[in-house]
Amino acid sequence: MANVQNGQQGDLPSEILQALSQKDTILSTETFPSIKSTDLKGALDRLASRSMITYETIDREEAILEAEAVGIAQSGSHEARVWEALRNNKEGLTGAELEAAVGDKNVVKVGQGKAFKLKWVGKGKDGRLVALVDSIKDDTQEQLQIIQKTRTHWDPKIITDLKKRKLVKMQKVISFKIHKGPKYALEIVKEETDLTADMLASGAWKTATFKPYNFKSLGADQNAGALHPLNKVRHEFRQIFFEMGFEEMPTNRYVETGFWNFDALFVPQQHPARDLQDTFYISDPKTADKPHAEDADDKGDYESYWKNVQEVHQDGKYGSIGYRYPWAEDESLRLVLRTHTTAISTAMLHKLAAQKGPGGRPPPARYFSIDRVFRNETVDATHLAEFHQVEGVIADYGLSLGGLMEFMEIFFHKMGIEDLRFKPAYNPYTEPSMEIFSFHKGLNKLVEIGNSGMFRPEMLEAMGLPKDMRVFGWGLSLERPTMIKYKVNNIRELLGHKVDLSFIERNPAVRLEKT
Ligand code: PHE
Repeated sequence: MANVQNGQQGDLPSEILQALSQKDTILSTETFPSIKSTDLKGALDRLASRSMITYETIDREEAILEAEAVGIAQSGSHEARVWEALRNNKEGLTGAELEAAVGDKNVVKVGQGKAFKLKWVGKGKDGRLVALVDSIKDDTQEQLQIIQKTRTHWDPKIITDLKKRKLVKMQKVISFKIHKGPKYALEIVKEETDLTADMLASGAWKTATFKPYNFKSLGADQNAGALHPLNKVRHEFRQIFFEMGFEEMPTNRYVETGFWNFDALFVPQQHPARDLQDTFYISDPKTADKPHAEDADDKGDYESYWKNVQEVHQDGKYGSIGYRYPWAEDESLRLVLRTHTTAISTAMLHKLAAQKGPGGRPPPARYFSIDRVFRNETVDATHLAEFHQVEGVIADYGLSLGGLMEFMEIFFHKMGIEDLRFKPAYNPYTEPSMEIFSFHKGLNKLVEIGNSGMFRPEMLEAMGLPKDMRVFGWGLSLERPTMIKYKVNNIRELLGHKVDLSFIERNPAVRLEKT
């Protein structure tokens, strides 16, 4: 059975239907003069969607009086008020007296000049102001009164003039011409949106009115999750590493000892990188235990490793003369927020040294990681105190620098970075070391994209790797390529507490890059 909603008092759609029962066409300005056009439109749309009515929108501009003009329409123009005050005082008035008589300084200031020009007033013999005529015609007041009543004026020039004088402004008015529609009725029938099992069982479907599909309606916003651009680029890098046969390193520790972060990497204990200005030290606890095996699979020899690191720093070993300073155990046990993921690469290489592959020697290995590192930097548009490091390490017999430069070309090519340049650089743990640059077409210059190098024997032999096993490593930030790919200029828009969530939600799921 069709459900009928009775037209209640104050129910706009019903009132519209009611009004149409007398006349086939109505004007909203006549029938509903005091109802807001937005409310009216809502009701009209509801009825029109059911074809109960049709309507046209009429856009019109109406002239409206400004606050000052309302006063003029009521009490006359400024010049008329000045004239009136003088006409009422036949002996004339001084300036001060006129002000008192009119009761508004501003009206006198503006009105006096105009009244003079119109020759309504003048100066008497004694210099007093006097009225010069017995009657005047206050055009401005008349015009404004007409506009107040009719919201327009038959002479468009007058409206233009009053607008210039800032007495009148125009206002858009929307009204509607409403007609009976093909399904016009006095009552609004409830429309069914679903055909239900109950309706089929009871037969109600035969008489039910179904709501037509609205193909124009927009779906509700889907509140779906979104991946952070850093995560998307991280995913791309991981795919490249997996494609090239790399194994992911476990980087789930932000805190390391100085040993893994520095000493094992042949970074001397006086190196500036170890200063408070560059590294965050943990205050509680301050130090950790000496390095030791953390799982059963780890067959590494930590005793001799510790001793070897001390010796190579202090006295020199493996053909190296070392740094020749008294190496302090305490310094090596201090806890730091890792400044690079190379700390993890080092621990992985040390475990590799204990593995027995073909011929009883450590097998070749390829490791990578992408994770957070911390540096005590002054935060600015391109630096944060933490960022993500992408790091790769290759260990193999007979690696050559030339072969590794080629490897870099292939690796970066997969990320869309071409035309590499290598520049000699310095790291305490690699020799040779090379900074990697690429020509940035957008910036029209070479930009640094990474740091790399061949790990030193002081580092590798101390952990027990064979002399002829070479290890090459490189590192870059995840933020730099992400900023370029997503056109972000300020790193704080990408990472940290200032990141705008909508930036993450709105950036496209898929990026198409021109190459
Ligand atoms: N640890 C270097 C850095 O933080 C990157 C690097 C890794 C360099 C391995 C050489 C070898 O910039």
